[in-house]
Amino acid sequence: MAMSSGSTGHRQELAGLLATKGITGPRWIQAVAAVPRDLFLGEAVFHPDAGAEGILWRPIRRDRTSSGEWLRMAHEDRTWVTQVDGIMAEDATQALSGAPTSSSTLPSLVVTMLERARIADGDRVLEIGTGTGYSTALLCERLGSGQVTSVECDPAVAARARTALETAGHTPALTVGDGLTVHDRDAEYDRLIATCSVRYIPACWIWQVRGGGTITAPLSGWLGGTVLAHLTVGSDGTAGGRFLADSLSFMFARPHDRPSRAHYLLNIGEQPGTRISPAVLDDPAARFVAQLGAPSAEKLGTGDHVVLLDVATGSQATTEPAPDGGWRVRQHGPLRLWDAVEDAISTWREAGSPPVPAFGLAVTREGQRVWLGCPDGPSWQLPA
Ligand SMILES: C[S@@+](CC[C@H](N)C(=O)[O-])C[C@H]1O[C@@H](n2cnc3c(N)ncnc32)[C@H](O)[C@@H]1O
Repeated sequence: MAMSSGSTGHRQELAGLLATKGITGPRWIQAVAAVPRDLFLGEAVFHPDAGAEGILWRPIRRDRTSSGEWLRMAHEDRTWVTQVDGIMAEDATQALSGAPTSSSTLPSLVVTMLERARIADGDRVLEIGTGTGYSTALLCERLGSGQVTSVECDPAVAARARTALETAGHTPALTVGDGLTVHDRDAEYDRLIATCSVRYIPACWIWQVRGGGTITAPLSGWLGGTVLAHLTVGSDGTAGGRFLADSLSFMFARPHDRPSRAHYLLNIGEQPGTRISPAVLDDPAARFVAQLGAPSAEKLGTGDHVVLLDVATGSQATTEPAPDGGWRVRQHGPLRLWDAVEDAISTWREAGSPPVPAFGLAVTREGQRVWLGCPDGPSWQLPA
């Protein structure tokens, strides 16, 4: 049982709110009502302030905030970033620019994932990305600490989560290391969930889940397309399943994060036309499809003005409206990035532009293939 930190009313309010946001499982609602989220935010969090040059992360310290306000903030259904570029919020002396590297994710998102993973009494669960430990605590509350193992790669984040979990009365198995490679050879988990995004399914996830068990993870890429994969593991080292309809996003697992942005050149390359509007990439499903065609490209820009950059090869594609209507595309480098995107989008359109659950993933020893329609349908190799 989680200890009380004077937050009972706030917890119950948050639990009630999740029930209005499509969370149907009473056991998860009860877990949210029981776990004091303020314990998991530690001594400080970062607030995103819009600045002239992008977001600035301003530290908010617990000891400079009234206890009532801190409890209210902690139990909002929002993500609280706790680390930016490796700097913990409690160590920050001023606002920082940079990218979040750890957080307590929006509770409604975390609980949606836990629900979609179809976790049941008695399940042994492996979580990748302990973060603050809040989602780990929900799992412990629901299943008992003995059923839960969680892996966090950042030692400072992991130490803070361990303290919070102990304070809340939970004692799951906690491992510090890269959850994409470290594994326990004797493990046989029923469920694996990841609260960080991956570009492909790491092999060691499959080794650690029993035949018939499941992997639930956000599958993402550098074009910004993300889907939620829910895969059933076979007894022969394979895994497969359709993507779910939920749209959600988690920060990348660190080894899968995009490399630093390459330079790109303007007005270079040929200028062929294109069959598709570049603005189609503003649609999340289309962006996911485009990413299948160009899996190591990043996207900058929106609307008609898009830049695709492939960091590995330096290939680039830029789009702009053509003076006489339509669009001009300049492509440069060994990969024809726009052609690859256009082919993938055309294949999807020929199938009637179905939503994300029309796609699925097949993981075999030969590779990882996203298919459209059925496992024998058109498919794209993931960069595994
Ligand atoms: C979005 S946060 C986790 C949210 C958390 N479960 C919560 O309380 O809501 C993602 C976490 O994954 C961790 N992470 C990133 N890559 C990882 C990896 N390869 N192995 C283990 N943890 C990783 C990050 O350090 C970060 O703490």
